[in-house]
Parts: sequence; structure tokens; C-alpha cells
Amino acid sequence: MSIVRVTDADSGEFNNALKELSIYFGRLSEEKGRDLTFNLLTYGCQLNEADSEKLSGMLTAMGLTRAGDSGDELAPADVVIMNTCSVRENADKHLFGNLGVFKQAKKDNPDMIIAVCGCMMKVPANVEKIRNSFPFVDLVFDPQQIHRLPLFLKEAVESGKQVARVGDTDYIADDDFFPIDRQRKFRALVPIMYGCNNFCTYCIVPYARGRERSRDFAKIKAELEDLAALGYKEVMLLGQNVNSYGNGNSDGKRFADVLACASDCGFARVRFMSSHPKDLSDEVIELMGSRPNIEKHLHIAMQSGSDSVLKRMNRPYTIKDFYRITDMFREKVPEGSITTDIIVGFPGETEEEFADTLKAVEYCKFDAAFTFQYSVRPGTAAEKLPDRVPQDVVTERFSRLLEIQNRLAAESNQKKVGKTHEVLIEGISKQGEGTYTGRTISNHLVNFTIPAELMPCGDASLEGRLALVKVDRARPYSVDGVMERLINE
Ligand code: SAM
Ligand code: SF4
Ligand code: F3S
Repeated sequence: MSIVRVTDADSGEFNNALKELSIYFGRLSEEKGRDLTFNLLTYGCQLNEADSEKLSGMLTAMGLTRAGDSGDELAPADVVIMNTCSVRENADKHLFGNLGVFKQAKKDNPDMIIAVCGCMMKVPANVEKIRNSFPFVDLVFDPQQIHRLPLFLKEAVESGKQVARVGDTDYIADDDFFPIDRQRKFRALVPIMYGCNNFCTYCIVPYARGRERSRDFAKIKAELEDLAALGYKEVMLLGQNVNSYGNGNSDGKRFADVLACASDCGFARVRFMSSHPKDLSDEVIELMGSRPNIEKHLHIAMQSGSDSVLKRMNRPYTIKDFYRITDMFREKVPEGSITTDIIVGFPGETEEEFADTLKAVEYCKFDAAFTFQYSVRPGTAAEKLPDRVPQDVVTERFSRLLEIQNRLAAESNQKKVGKTHEVLIEGISKQGEGTYTGRTISNHLVNFTIPAELMPCGDASLEGRLALVKVDRARPYSVDGVMERLINE
């Protein structure tokens, strides 16, 4: 399959569509006597969040403003876009339920445009279902084509018919004309590659996101330098398998080069996700140990502790290979944390195989884990595997795993107590009034209070600042503390 890089040739078409839509929405706004709004719902992983920042950038450039922060996720707006995820079955259910709500809203505002994009739109059955059962949806497009939003919207407005643009092409929407509406004042998401070639047998992502393709190193470097100049404190390098960055590019640059480049740009924190055990290089672990601004946190999915399950999952490593990585990381990055993903109840999982997972969890002492019950995905190889594990067995295994992992997470948090940590402040905490939240360089979540005499004027000025926080209490998934001082930068 060919990789098409979006070139400057597209920018003329793109800008024209953007201009025509601004005129259209401008007129509509005058007619209605109010500003026009958009509501962008984002499900799934950070790659979808990064896509939504681009969609939001384009909608803003058309003159629309984000619908007020009423706390109502399903707030009606003049343009509604649902950016969907298909990784597990329950993700799919959101969409069809929510569409019913927007159908009602469209009755009050017939000019409303409803669009659906994201990974679900790469599953033909979902597109068919929208075609047949949700005719009020104006536009459907897939994640490889988000950069064409202005063209598709224009087509939908002009035709008044449902437009579906789902194709095969593996684009890299990589050019400078893309407006990005970054949602965090201090954290910038930077996809460095798209797609995935690994075809783990349970996973929909390679079908939804297409083949792996890496952005040009020079483009990434330019974006990182811009972000550093704009004052972003944290950058998050994104890809389904960042460690295989550079395959297929001609300049010989690998992920370690991107990581070193981000570190050289001078961000306070450089983060990345996700790493695949088969591709993580020793060089990357060395960099994590030696560069103070690279986050001391490795997210690396184990999936199972059983070699036979890993084989059925098409994860080409053994649990011994996985231990070599975690052992090396613990040695080179002693203050660091390791988090993982684990699937329970993969087809054919026996009690012995599950016991191997529990053993591996105890061995690796994960600081946190995302634990999932296996969910069958249409079109994947595992869909055809025999011996589905009965739901009651899955539920019981899942709770045994959680019990162990919760203890390990609490132990990891306990180690932070009594010490002062540098915390990057993310904002006001969910714990309530007067409490703030942030993360240590090892990605531990810290909720903390600020003594009155240290309080600067205005909460907003705290987001993105670094502070020293003395931790005095561990909770199951976070720690509590009191700020000692803000760090002057
Ligand atoms: N590329 C990442 C990696 O391999 O580390 C994973 C990205 S995937 C979006 C996040 C996690 O979802 C996976 O690591 C896996 O644990 C989980 N997952 C994916 N497909 C699943 C399925 N069909 N059922 C349950 N969990 C699934
Ligand atoms: Fe899915 Fe495996 Fe690719 Fe991760 S590496 S996105 S789990 S296929
Ligand atoms: Fe979901 Fe697609 Fe991400 S399936 S997890 S949004 S790559």
C-alpha cells in the first residue's frame, strides 16, 4: 500500500474549502443572530486526542467556537463531531446511544451538522449501520483523512446528503498548514508515527489506523522547536509502537534520535507512548536514565505472563524477554516507574496460563496497570480462535488480578511518602476546592494543597508550573501532599 504524504499541493484546496465554510458559517451566524458552536466528543487513546486537536483547529479556523463548558458531554451545537474508538466492544456502544440524543437536537436546529469519524469508521459494518439506520448523520470519514475535514464538510453542506469518505489510503497529514488547537496549556501531543504493523491477534488498531508510517524527522524537529519556543513544558511523543519509529524512512533516524532531539529542545518533561517489548532498544532505556528531562516512566504492555498466550496473541517475545527489559529499566532508572496493559480471558486461557500472568505481575511489580477483559473485535484473527473463556471465569480472574495489582500500586505510592518531589502542576484536583493535581517525573499522580502564604494570585497561573511537593500520604491510585514552594524557571 502506498504512503501518500500530504503535500503543499493540497494546501490550496484545503484553504479554499476553509474560506468557503467560514463564509457559509458567517452568514448562518448572522441569520441566527448568535455565534455558531461546535461540540467535539473524543473517545479512545491519545492518538485520537491528537486528531481532535487538529479537528478543533480546523473548526475554529472556520469561525466556530467550542460549545460552552456546561459539563454536558452531549450539549447540542451547530457542528457535532464524534471521534470514535473501536478498541473494545463497549467503546462502540457509546456512539449509537449518543447519536439518538443528537437526532433530537437536530429537530430543533435543522442546520446542525453531525459527523462521525475515528477508528469505528474503519469497520465497514459500522459505516453500513450509519448509512442504513442513521440518515440524519451528515458526514462519515476515517482517521486517515482527518485533514480533509473542510473538503468533506463543504461537500456535505452543498449536497445536503450524507457524505461517507472512508478509504484505504495511508496518509500522513503532516504539513504546516494544519491548525492545531492544543487542549493543554502546558502539554503538547506530538504524533511521530501513525498506524501499526504488528497485528496482535486481538487488536483492531492495524485495521483502523492502517500500516505503520513515520513522520519525517525534520518535520518533528521543527514542531518540537516551535513548541519549546512557545513555552510548552511537556511534550508527549505518540505512536502505537514508538520504538519502531523510522522504519521506511530514508534518513536512518530511529526513536532514540527523536527522544534525544525532544530532550535537547529543553522541555521540562519529555514523555512517550506506547512501547512494544519486541522493539524497545537498550539505547532508549539508557537515555531515560541519563537525561534528567526524559520522564522516568516506561509504559510497556505485557498483555500476558504466559508464553503460550503471548504466542496466540502474536506478541513475538517471551516473558523472559519481558523481564530482561523491566530488570534493565529498574537498574538504569532506579527512581522510575513501569506501567503496563494486561488482557484477561484471551481465548483458550487456562488456569495455569493465567497463574503465569499473576506470577509475572508479582515479578515486575508494576507501579500501575491498565487491565482489560478480552473483547472480541470483528475481523481480527482472534475472533476465529476456539475456546472462549466463560464470562464468570473472566470476571473471577480479573478480580484476582486487580487485587494483586492494587496492592502493588499502593506499595509503589507508599514509597513516595515522606519525600519531596518535583511536580508538574496540571490544574485543580478532582478532590475539590483548594487542592491541586500534578505528576512526578515518574508519572505518579500527586494531589496537594498550597499553604496560604505560598499561594500566587490566580489558580490559572499554576497550570504548567513546577513545584516541590512534600508527600505525606499514599492512596491506592495517587498520593497526597503539601506544596513547599514553586520552582522559579
Ligand atoms: N500499541 C499499544 C501496545 O501494543 O502497547 C497498545 C495500544 S491499544 C490501543 C491499548 C491496549 O488495549 C492494548 O495494550 C491491549 O491491552 C488493549 N486491547 C486491545 N485490543 C483489545 C481487545 N480486543 N480486548 C481487550 N483489550 C484490548
Ligand atoms: Fe494493537 Fe498490537 Fe499494534 Fe498495539 S502493537 S496497536 S496491541 S496490534
Ligand atoms: Fe481506540 Fe483507535 Fe486509539 S481504536 S485506542 S482510538 S487507535
